[in-house]
Amino acid sequence: MVCLGNICRSPLAEGILKSKVDIKSVCVDSAGTGGWHVGELPDSRSIDVARKNGLDISDQKCRKFIKQDFEDFDWIYVMDKSNLKDVLSLADTEEKRSKVIMILNESAAGSNREVPDPYYGGDNGFQLVYGMLNDACEHIVNRLNNE
Ligand code: 4NP
Repeated sequence: MVCLGNICRSPLAEGILKSKVDIKSVCVDSAGTGGWHVGELPDSRSIDVARKNGLDISDQKCRKFIKQDFEDFDWIYVMDKSNLKDVLSLADTEEKRSKVIMILNESAAGSNREVPDPYYGGDNGFQLVYGMLNDACEHIVNRLNNE
């Protein structure tokens, strides 16, 4: 799960997907394309909205997306077109490029819809993002279970 800062959207996506899969057999992680918050906890508004929805994401630590992630993960979900461009700029093979998916294309195939960045907005933006990611993660799990 990749966003810009790895403190708002992708930590929520990580927590939500982890809550829906067997984490002993599926490795779920998140990272940011930017490095400003490396080592920090998720944004307190993400921690709060997760908690309101029954999830604890306060054990996560921000890290930066690295090229090795293309080796370590089968799918790389990005939140918006800017993340897509940044992650694709690090991919040097077609196989790596094919792993990168706009996450809302799971719930709305081919739409190329973006998960809005809630960082500069109010708290209700976080619940909106939570709902979008929860829906997308349901689709990911269905796909996983059908493979
Ligand atoms: P995120 O939101 O990409 O959903 O984690 C942001 C968090 C921090 C910044 C930008 C976006 N920032 O510029 O520090």
